[in-house]
Amino acid sequence: MSELNLVLLGPPGSGKGTQGERLQEELQLPYYATGDILRAAVREGTELGRAAKGYMDRGDLVPDEVIVGMIGERIDSAEAVDGFILDGFPRTVPQADALAAKLTELGRELTAVLLIDVSDEEVVRRLGGRRTCLENGHVFHLEFNPPQQEGVCDLDGSELVVRDDDKPDVIRHRLEQYEEKTSPLIAYYDGQSLLRQIEGSASAEAVADEIRRTLATLRLEADEAI
Ligand code: AP5
Repeated sequence: MSELNLVLLGPPGSGKGTQGERLQEELQLPYYATGDILRAAVREGTELGRAAKGYMDRGDLVPDEVIVGMIGERIDSAEAVDGFILDGFPRTVPQADALAAKLTELGRELTAVLLIDVSDEEVVRRLGGRRTCLENGHVFHLEFNPPQQEGVCDLDGSELVVRDDDKPDVIRHRLEQYEEKTSPLIAYYDGQSLLRQIEGSASAEAVADEIRRTLATLRLEADEAI
């Protein structure tokens, strides 16, 4: 396989960020997480951040036109020539169409869409216990991945907080938004034979193992096709 262009798809709290960080390290590919990019813009008080904040705090999606340009320029950058990992994008059918058009323009295509699937109850459990570091967005969980010192990030010592969109009523709304606007992408990518389903309710290590096995199978299939 000459390049590895991956999308991580799944409901809020399914572990896309947790697995994306691991994949970035293992595959040495750029990792573009739209939620992280938007939260950094909010922290920095940029125009993008000011435009996005209200939508994010309510658990609504930020308008497609804001997101599409933001990702398009990253995919088209020198660091992404060997591939990329997308987390949280695309999230609507128009975003998926825009991604396909951009890749066609560049003479490239997606390698696979990894759907990390978990139940709504598990989402509520994971997001309810998630704590995020104020400075750099490092992620912990009170039960599954607790910090060494309560309320303090192990990596940079900054304060751990509950994300504004991890409050119970906002979590519910994010799940509704996922169901309505993002879940149609499952059939969209399945129809293109790009979808690979990953059982997300296992431990983070077991999920990472399943993703490794899936990528190894994809490599074998690509070699056999040559
Ligand atoms: P975004 O940040 O992308 O939110 P999300 O998709 O809802 O995903 P999360 O970050 O909440 O969860 P995750 O799947 O990464 O899980 P994590 O690994 O942290 O987007 C936020 C907002 O930005 C959106 O609501 C929207 O407003 C806007 N936005 C972003 N992209 C957009 C787009 N394309 N279009 C429009 N708007 C957009 O794990 C969760 C917790 O569980 C953690 O505490 C973790 O430690 C724990 N955990 C992870 N894996 C496991 C495991 N296997 N077992 C036990 N615990 C685990």
